[in-house]
Amino acid sequence: MNDAPMKRSGQSLAEAFQNDFLIGAAVNHRTIVSQSGLLKQHYNSLTAENEMKFESLHPEEHLYTFDRADRIAGFARENGMKLRGHTLIWHNQTPDWVFEDGNGGMAGREMLLARMKSHMDTVVKRYKDAVYCWDVVNEAVTDDGEESLRPSKWLHGIGEDYIEQAFRFAHEADPEALLFYNDYNECNPGKREKIFSLVKSLLDNGTPVHGIGLQAHWNLYDPSLDLIREAIERYASLGLKLQVTEMDVSVFAFDDRRTDLTAPTAEMMRLQEQRYKQFFELFREYKEVLTGVTFWGAADDYTWLDHFPVRGRKNWPLLFDTEQRPKAAIKGIIGM
Ligand code: GLA
Repeated sequence: MNDAPMKRSGQSLAEAFQNDFLIGAAVNHRTIVSQSGLLKQHYNSLTAENEMKFESLHPEEHLYTFDRADRIAGFARENGMKLRGHTLIWHNQTPDWVFEDGNGGMAGREMLLARMKSHMDTVVKRYKDAVYCWDVVNEAVTDDGEESLRPSKWLHGIGEDYIEQAFRFAHEADPEALLFYNDYNECNPGKREKIFSLVKSLLDNGTPVHGIGLQAHWNLYDPSLDLIREAIERYASLGLKLQVTEMDVSVFAFDDRRTDLTAPTAEMMRLQEQRYKQFFELFREYKEVLTGVTFWGAADDYTWLDHFPVRGRKNWPLLFDTEQRPKAAIKGIIGM
């Protein structure tokens, strides 16, 4: 029995959770090459970091660019991995032409709905065999204040029902696909209630929505375990499936601007290990409703947090280090 922890630490992350939920990573056209071995060993689900977003797939009205997304879909298929589609309707990374009428004005409701539908028909149908679920609408809810919906060109041009319409179009394009509403700050009680009410109203009027994505861009200090548990309970009470869709655990508190570190401190790694262990213990408790845990990256050699929110600052938010070696945190999780 003495060598059990060693054996377990050599085990694959996805295998360790194969009876619980999928283990995913966001990838891009470079990391499916540079992290190929790691991805194949430890993950059984992928999400395209940017390659399936509106601006990447559909930069001009009559031009689709599928090459990079196709490569990611091909990598998933060749390796028997699941693929999450990310993302159809979002206020960011959507080209201006979508919202313009071509005559110097803004596109009206009918034009926007027609574009939304034709984009989804093309994209969702193309990846029907590869993608099993889509983030249909991303980040539609505001963080602060009384307003529920974020001001956006989709909201302005179509009206409040743009979210419902998006889910209906996606469902028409692929009736088999599981359709998610995805958002961040999802454990913040104020925002959590807005997300809950939005999704509840969609369900009440028969909109085909099947799940809520909790982005889970967390850090060493926030959110608390209690708030995470409350959010899971609240969303699950709607009778939907939940997924953690973009998880990372920044080593910096949100308002920490320090830029002096070239490596994480021992204390940061200790806290991160503890946090990851607690998160995965909690996730396992909810494995009946939680069907996937996707990290926003696979290893610390590449993370979007290297540039955000402090420009040029390195971060170490994932379970594998900059050399793609398992961090201590992974032993804690797999050995649970
Ligand atoms: C949001 C989006 C993701 C990604 C991250 C930052 O969470 O949903 O697609 O852009 O921001 O990388």
